[in-house]
Amino acid sequence: MKRINHYLLLLPAILLSSCNAQKEKNTVSLKDSYKNDFYIGTALDANQIEEKNAKEDSLIKKEFNAITAENIMKSMFVHPAKDKYDFALSDKFVAYGEKNKMFIHGHTLIWHSQLAPWMTEIKDSTEMKAFMKDHITTIVSKYKGRIDSWDVVNEALNDDGTLRKSVFLNTLGEQYLVDAFKLAAAADPKTDLYYNDYNNEEPAKREGNINLIKKIKAGGGKIDGVGIQAHWRLESPSIEMIEESILAYSALGLKVAFTELDITVLPNPWDLKGADVNQNFEGSAKMNPYPEKLPDSVQVKLAERYASIFKLFLKHQDKISRVTFWGVHDGQSWLNDWPIKGRTNYPLLFDKDLKPKKAYQSVMTLKETKK
Ligand code: G3I
Repeated sequence: MKRINHYLLLLPAILLSSCNAQKEKNTVSLKDSYKNDFYIGTALDANQIEEKNAKEDSLIKKEFNAITAENIMKSMFVHPAKDKYDFALSDKFVAYGEKNKMFIHGHTLIWHSQLAPWMTEIKDSTEMKAFMKDHITTIVSKYKGRIDSWDVVNEALNDDGTLRKSVFLNTLGEQYLVDAFKLAAAADPKTDLYYNDYNNEEPAKREGNINLIKKIKAGGGKIDGVGIQAHWRLESPSIEMIEESILAYSALGLKVAFTELDITVLPNPWDLKGADVNQNFEGSAKMNPYPEKLPDSVQVKLAERYASIFKLFLKHQDKISRVTFWGVHDGQSWLNDWPIKGRTNYPLLFDKDLKPKKAYQSVMTLKETKK
């Protein structure tokens, strides 16, 4: 009897503590779990910047502490005509980050893609120099002290490590790389300046990237970090290759950021023997095998892949500044439309209904077992 009374007395405390444990479980997030390691970021589309969907908005605020604009800060949107800048959405983006005390990353200043049409018509070096100076100085100064880091130059390399024959290289030669970093540093000396590219964990491109960084430094440019975009696959690149890249870039004294992480689970047209890339794969069931739901076996593979990647990131957390996912949830991913339009891909940690996937649990579990 005495024992029963004792139990009854303790019951409210037991219930309360189990309630708190449940609450704690619900409030645990990516950003909190990794807060002593690196920023956990996401890329926002225009609707997310404008907080149009309350459920998405609360997920973003709960899980992420760094943001990148997926599209709206690119040249064609922010600098649509020679004498016209449009900062309406980028102002909202920066205000969103400030309001939520997030790390704010600027994407991107000098990129051959998504240029405004007038920029592609620039043919001579005097005009291009003037464009670069005006473009970089205007944008970086406007957000001086408010944007924490910038992709100063994006995707200047070919996969073999040589310089891409972009409109910038064609008019200015390789000096444009040094100049871009100098102009950005002059406009905001305190913001971190990054070179950002995809496949730069692959050996040939990595070599080219290392040479490019050395050239920027030798020319007197300030460069603080390298962005590895990390648009990856289930089977590649290998963990060893990624690790070698972290070590190689950080040996140059740079911060390493994973800036656009996602993992495609769909077949790649370029892997098909004899497949012509220009062939029309749209609507082909073979190329869009999971239109309704990702099978459990692939869900598990994706979770394992994310776990091994984050295990490596944790091993080198002292060298990594930020890990940003390229989108908040699967429904929004650019991979639903590339390289084939209209497919259903599953590359992120949250599904299209904003539910955490097995991959989310596997990334979170790494931190739980570490404690
Ligand atoms: O906004 C228009 C819409 O009005 C129109 O109806 C629709 C029709 O296709 O297109 C919409 O624009 C699309 C835009 O994304 C916004 O969704 C463009 O067609 C599409 O080309 C554009 O793609 C973006 C791509 O960069 C452009 O190169 C992706 O969203 C964006 O995720 C992607 O991001 C790049 C990084 O900036 C650099 N690294 C690679 C990464 C993936 O390609």
